[in-house]
Amino acid sequence: MKLFGILLGAITGITTAQELGGPASPASQATTYLNLVRVGNKVTAQFDNSFKLLLDNPYVRPAPNRDSFEYWGFDAVNPNNINESVVVMFYLAHNLSLPHRTTASLVSVDVWLNFGDGTSAPVVMDAQPDFRGIATVTIAPLMILGDWDSTGAAFTGTISAMDGRSLYEINIDNPEAGLRGTLRLQSEGPPHLPCTSNLTKTDASLEAISHVGWTNEVPDADAVATFSLNSSLTGNVEKTLQFTGGFGYHDHLFGDVPLRKSVKDWYSGHARFGPYSVVWLKIISWDGKGQFNFQLSRNGRDLFTTCSKFNSSSATLPTDGDWKIVNDWYEADKVGMEIQTVELDRVSAMTFNIYKTKLVASNKEMSAWTGNVVTVTETEVTYRGAGMLMQHHFERPE
Ligand SMILES: *[C@@H]1O[C@H](CO)[C@@H](O)[C@H](O)[C@H]1NC(C)=O
Ligand SMILES: *[C@@H]1O[C@H](CO)[C@@H](O)[C@H](O)[C@H]1NC(C)=O
Ligand SMILES: *[C@@H]1O[C@H](CO)[C@@H](O)[C@H](O)[C@H]1NC(C)=O
Ligand SMILES: *[C@@H]1O[C@H](CO)[C@@H](O)[C@H](O)[C@H]1NC(C)=O
Ligand SMILES: *[C@@H]1O[C@H](CO)[C@@H](O)[C@H](O)[C@H]1NC(C)=O
Repeated sequence: MKLFGILLGAITGITTAQELGGPASPASQATTYLNLVRVGNKVTAQFDNSFKLLLDNPYVRPAPNRDSFEYWGFDAVNPNNINESVVVMFYLAHNLSLPHRTTASLVSVDVWLNFGDGTSAPVVMDAQPDFRGIATVTIAPLMILGDWDSTGAAFTGTISAMDGRSLYEINIDNPEAGLRGTLRLQSEGPPHLPCTSNLTKTDASLEAISHVGWTNEVPDADAVATFSLNSSLTGNVEKTLQFTGGFGYHDHLFGDVPLRKSVKDWYSGHARFGPYSVVWLKIISWDGKGQFNFQLSRNGRDLFTTCSKFNSSSATLPTDGDWKIVNDWYEADKVGMEIQTVELDRVSAMTFNIYKTKLVASNKEMSAWTGNVVTVTETEVTYRGAGMLMQHHFERPE
């Protein structure tokens, strides 16, 4: 019965693509992942931009094993009360390949709920074991459907053929976890790859650093969240998280080696302030080399998307035409950058700071915060906003 629903979903997706005048669909593709952790079977991750049905399609084939991973991440923060946020991660990843996983299940979903009163509830939902715990990802040119079946969580994304903007919806109903809810993200920013927002650039790489693929489908979104949780995490009383006008985000990560093998330090985040939104992902690997991936947009239009590779002896920051980052800082209480551009033959600058205001999740070497943003331009205009940031710091590779 459930499988029939999945097939039906795929068929609906193709119809949508044709109605929107999208490219004639070669077919939809459905991939089913069993909740079995395979050891040593050969896995290939696609890091080039040569073929894809859509930006968000699965990149690890045939399926992640114990040493590889793939996950779809969604989050939203309420700028009117930074205490309120939600993060939902759909994993195909074992905890050996993705160390912040708390379970050894391949198919699982994490939901970190952060309520208005400042309390937090990290909900981990494992799929049933083996053949009973499947996840199915169905893709067509302008849609994706991810169904983590026995966890009660699923997401759909529909992409506009007109401008590439998307609408994502996450639905969760897991009576065992006492969790129900939806998160709706209407994208406001241009999707991008690590080094470019030109998705048709066939020679562009999907690598945020060697062996880690990253695609950012929704760098900024208007978010609506409605969740209710009633479990031991809330003292068996019902707590709700409900906001509109949130700042949302969705990206997709994958790798063909365990994360801690390719990453020593990881700084990522996204924020919106005034007409601007920003996304950054800076990774330093064990040999001191690194890559800084960056996007800035204004009123939903791309201004500056690029990456810079650096090594321990040179700290090159992203530069793209008239735009450059002249300084960046990662401190105990904040992350910030100074961005410069040449406009009308004069240099203008803005200094962006996101403060680690509320810890939303922390697990072994990973921490995430929602943050208030204060950005001051050279002409003393101050923008206030909000965002989300995450760090991983590994002490040793294995
Ligand atoms: C993975 O999860 C299992 C089950 O919870 C646990 O026993 C094991 O120690 C975890 N491994 C790592 C590397 O975290
Ligand atoms: C956020 O949580 C803190 C800690 O519980 C609380 O003191 C504060 O009043 C909350 N903020 C809002 C706007 O409710
Ligand atoms: C995007 O990349 C393609 C392939 O390299 C190129 O033909 C096209 O002009 C680029 N588009 C823009 C807007 O730069
Ligand atoms: C919350 O769960 C408790 C314990 O299972 C139950 O007694 C209570 O009725 C539930 N509350 C709501 C509003 O569903
Ligand atoms: C590191 O950067 C310096 C300065 O740009 C460059 O000369 C050197 O070749 C780089 N080394 C490696 C190993 O990439």
